[in-house]
Formats: sequence, structure tokens, C-alpha cells
Amino acid sequence: MDSLLIKGGVPLRGEVMISGSKNSVLPIMAASLLTSEPCIIRRVPNLSDVRFMGQILSWLGAEVRHEKDAVRIQARRIKGCGDYDLVRKMRGSICIMGPLLGRLRKAAVSLPGGCVIGARPINLHLKGFEALGARVTIEAGYVHAAARRLVGSAVFLGGRAGSTVLGTANVMMAATLAEGVTVIESAACEPEVVDLANFLNAMGARITGAGSPTVTITGVKELHGAEHEVIPDRIEAATYAIAAAATNGEVTLRGARADHMHAVLDKLQDCGVRIERSGPDLRVRRGGRLKPVDVTTLPYAGFPTDVQAQMMALMCLAPGISIITERIFESRFMHVSELNRLGADIEIEGPSAIVKGGRPLSGAPVMASDLRASAALVIAGLAARGTTQVNRVYHIDRGYENLDGKLRQLGARIERIEDA
Ligand code: EPU
Repeated sequence: MDSLLIKGGVPLRGEVMISGSKNSVLPIMAASLLTSEPCIIRRVPNLSDVRFMGQILSWLGAEVRHEKDAVRIQARRIKGCGDYDLVRKMRGSICIMGPLLGRLRKAAVSLPGGCVIGARPINLHLKGFEALGARVTIEAGYVHAAARRLVGSAVFLGGRAGSTVLGTANVMMAATLAEGVTVIESAACEPEVVDLANFLNAMGARITGAGSPTVTITGVKELHGAEHEVIPDRIEAATYAIAAAATNGEVTLRGARADHMHAVLDKLQDCGVRIERSGPDLRVRRGGRLKPVDVTTLPYAGFPTDVQAQMMALMCLAPGISIITERIFESRFMHVSELNRLGADIEIEGPSAIVKGGRPLSGAPVMASDLRASAALVIAGLAARGTTQVNRVYHIDRGYENLDGKLRQLGARIERIEDA
């Protein structure tokens, strides 16, 4: 397994181009299953999760061609059952279920398990399918949904932690080809849901209200091919903004969408980070000493759980106490012990991490446990004295396009050690 070797202490400077959003492109690729016509998706990041979704779609019978930063998908004839092991490997692949149910009136995928960040149930996805008239059963590790007719209805998709992003995406996709009107209440408002709705509408769907808690889908008989460019990755942009602040640098995020990043930018400003907007670009620089802040993760437009770990790395550098509370995924604190290995002082108290910031960090070998935890360790390594080795880099390759290359372009001393 590859690792990253980081010699810390160099302020990041320069420009970085923000890639297309991972969490947008995965459901959008899955949505291409809703039509037999070709779909072309642009600004597709080169990530292992994207290639993996491509493999799942190919397995289902779709033709998938990656061309530079675009992918062309044509699902002329498809089967309704995802490969057990393929689907199980990537939790995001649950979003093939809505399109399969919509198009074929049946879908079977392996039941996704929990992962290091939490239990990750799919009860709300299934509740939505049932509301459309599907019968849902679990057999031999597969979850099956089948319906003779899908009929629109009202469904409340609020759960324990609020809305569900992929649950909203799944029900929205299935409902595009249902008879009549579906109204999703407590829908996720994330920009990725809006992006998916825009793609579906470009395919001929009739969706209104995406981006608000009430999404209305009027079913249509069929969808057609479409072309779409995915939105920039707000989590990647936030990660580089935090890395710039952590290293006392100055970085321009090219092609970021500040309007998708209010909660993160607001918190960074509270920490003393300067942010200037110029068109689609954002210039981020540290304005002096960092200040501690309290952060609670929430569904959009609150502070994203996907930036919690990176923010914690930054708070390790701010003298004083910051309290970071995780409200979306119960065990998303695997980075805490590794940040402490670098010299941080963080204690977990229930859903909160108490960060006593301001101690100098010093490089050490650390182990990444998930995608965003890995990003946090890279940020801490960039700010630490000495050398940090981040192991299990495959997590990063799932969700950050060319992270080490982009950081090198900003002046970081970071090297990939390939496993022999
Ligand atoms: N939940 C339920 N029941 C469900 C579905 C979700 O109780 O049926 C709960 C979850 O356990 C969690 C909360 O609802 O407590 C929110 O989960 P959500 O369903 O919104 O997460 P997701 O759709 O599975 C996507 C992203 C995650 C991101 C979350 C939250 C993709 C592929 N994944 O997951 O991204 O953290 O939304 O914003 O879009 C990442 O990129 O690192 C990542 C984990």
C-alpha cells in the first residue's frame, strides 16, 4: 500500500484547480442507468471511487468510457442485480438501487455494512422505495426491492441525524419514472442533491424544489440522454483552504463555489483566516495567529461532517480550546488518536472532541482510517516539524484527485512512496 512522506513546515503558496465533486459524480453516474441513451458527464475527477462506480455500471451491462475528464455512459440493456462484492466494497454504490428500481421495477444490491465512520443504515432509502409501492426484502445478504408499478406518494425522509443525502438521491431517481407525483419531505439540501436534480431534469425528469427540504418529482414515462458538468468539490476546496491556513500560506482555489461553502468559510474567518472572493476563485490566507472555534457538524447548510477531521487538524494549531461536535456519524473520530501521535492534545467526550490547541506538532508515522481522516493527517503533517508518513493512502485516492501532485504544485514537500 502506498504512503505519503511529508516534510512539514512549508507555507503553501499558489493556485490549485478544484476538481469535480466526488459526491456529485457518483449518483450522477448511477442516474445514467435510467435511460438507454448515452449520457456524457464532464468535470469527472480521476478517483478510484469513480473508476469503481464505472466498474459497477459495466457489470450491470452499461457501456462506460472514460475520456480525459469526461465519462460517457450508455445503459442500453441492464440487469437489476449489482455484483455482491463490488457493491459491498463502496458504500456510495447504494445509489444504483433507485435508478434500477425506476427503470426495471426491480433492484437487488448487497446490503452495505457499517464502516469506520459509523453504522450507516439504509432504512430511509428503503422507506422511500416502499412509499413508491416497492416490496423490500432482505435475503442472503442482498436487499431486494421490486414493484409491479411505482406510484408517486408523499414520503418523509428525516432520520436520527436529520436528512439523508444518498437516501434523497435514491428516492428522487426512482420517482422520476413513477406514475404521478412524489413529494419528499425533509429532503437533503446538499448541493450534490441539486446537481443530481439538474442532471435528471436535463434527462427529461420533472423535479422542483431540490436544495430545499421539500422536493417534488412528477413522474415521466421515460428519460433521455443528457450532458452535464458536475459541480466543483466543496470538500476538496475546503481541504485546500484549511491546508493553506494550517501552513500559514496563501492559496487561490480556482473554480471553487463559495456559495456552497458558507459554513466552512464562516468558521475559517472566525479562526482569523482571510478569505477573498474574486469571481469563481477564492483566495485564502492566514491573517495572523489562529483563534480557537467551536464547530458542530450538521446537514447542509451547516458545517459538513466531511470537513470535520480537517478542521480538527487546524484547531490543533490554534492556541486555546476548541470543541468539535460530530452530529452526523457517531464514530467519525478515528483521526483523533493519530493527530495525538503528532503531538496534538485532543480528548473525546461523547460526540465531542476537546482540542487543546497550540502545542507544536512533530512528524511521525500515522495510519489513515478513512478518506477525510487521511486528509486531516496530511494537513497536520504539512504543518508539523519534521517528517510525517501517512500510511494507507488508498483512502485518499478514493476521494482526492492527485492530492500529492496538487500539494507539490503549492510548494509542499510531499512524496508518494509506492509499495514495492
Ligand atoms: N441515515 C439513516 N438512515 C438512512 C440513511 C442515513 O439513519 O437510511 C443516517 C446516517 O447514519 C447518518 C445520517 O443519516 O447519521 C446522514 O447520512 P447520509 O445518508 O446523508 O450519508 P450518505 O448519503 O450515505 C453522503 C456522502 C458522505 C457524507 C454524507 C453526509 C456520498 C457518496 N457520501 O453519504 O461522504 O459524509 O453524505 O454529508 O455522497 C465522504 O465523502 O467522505 C463521505 C463519507
